[in-house]
Amino acid sequence: MIKIKLLEVNYMIILGIETSCDETAAAILEVKNKTIRLLGNVVDSQISLHEKFGGVVPEVAAREHMNNMLPILRLVFQEASLDLSAVDLVSSTQGPGLATSLMVGLETGKSLAWSADKKFVPANHLLGHVFSWLLPGEINEKVDISKTEFPFLTLLVSGGHTELVLVSGYNDFKLLGRTLDDAAGEAFDKVAKMLELGYPGGPEISRAALKGRRNAFLFPRPLIKSDDFNFSFAGLKTAVLYELKKIENITEKIRNDIAASFEAAVAEVLVSKTLKAAQKYNTKNIVVAGGVSANKYLREEFGKVKDINVKFPYLKYTGDNAAMIALAGYIKFKVSNFKSQDDYLSLKALPNLTIV
Ligand code: KG4
Ligand code: ZN
Repeated sequence: MIKIKLLEVNYMIILGIETSCDETAAAILEVKNKTIRLLGNVVDSQISLHEKFGGVVPEVAAREHMNNMLPILRLVFQEASLDLSAVDLVSSTQGPGLATSLMVGLETGKSLAWSADKKFVPANHLLGHVFSWLLPGEINEKVDISKTEFPFLTLLVSGGHTELVLVSGYNDFKLLGRTLDDAAGEAFDKVAKMLELGYPGGPEISRAALKGRRNAFLFPRPLIKSDDFNFSFAGLKTAVLYELKKIENITEKIRNDIAASFEAAVAEVLVSKTLKAAQKYNTKNIVVAGGVSANKYLREEFGKVKDINVKFPYLKYTGDNAAMIALAGYIKFKVSNFKSQDDYLSLKALPNLTIV
């Protein structure tokens, strides 16, 4: 394994910009010797705009990013008591995500960097999630990132992705498995819609499940015994739909039971396959990240695991944010050959960017 010296730079201020889906976000990260510190972190969620459609409408999201981008940047600079002249490196999410949404943050970042003669690196949104557990809990709190232990296994569970990634260094990723159809978060959102709960579905299902019975319905655990590390949630979603069709009067009690039983099925598959991968790849460190990692029940189930260290990002970094993009951008800047700064102006958004 190649050991990368991440920390030869003594001081750097990074501006991170995230607009891949329905959050417009900006953050300012300071790297000083071995520590990182957040100086500002602003996330503006568009949930209220999209909830009446039951999901994110790409055109609406991109327009809203356009409206919000500059006010959010102004806010984050105010929070950090800095201006653009203090920034050394700008990093925007390049992908994956919604094409026109990505373009807003990417073009804004490139324009800022170009106009103020700053460095620019594009960030991979998925790597933002992978390293989000390193971010400090509070503004101004310091975290020593030289102590990061490798390898760790990341279960990345979000609205668009469900992946198991073995992380053996800051630039060493191996994709072990992924969903073959729906992402875990997407399944939460779709089942919530069937139950006529709100959007996004994850938190709604989680709330309803607290009042339900985990074993009221025996939903399938797709691919739980397969030899690979892939996932599948489409069949589980359909199983919920069939069950609902059989019931004439869907009471609140039934809704809660379905939510609890569905959540139990998803969590069992996620925990079981992650542990199997940890065993096969002989790692004692697991990181669970992405929007679904906010799920309380999933956290509790991983909490029961013995002899393995399971880490989660702080709740505010489970969903999309720019702090993780600033960090992913810094890491990319340090580990890659992204030294040639002439070509960033021609970078394009990559809606289907993968982790490796
Ligand atoms: O990481 P994220 O904010 O955006 C993507 O990159 O996709 O993840 C959003 C997903 C949504 O599907 C949402 O329903 C899910 O994360 N989510 C949850 C919870 N909070 C958010 N799923 C389960 N339980 C939660 N508490
Ligand atoms: Zn995300």
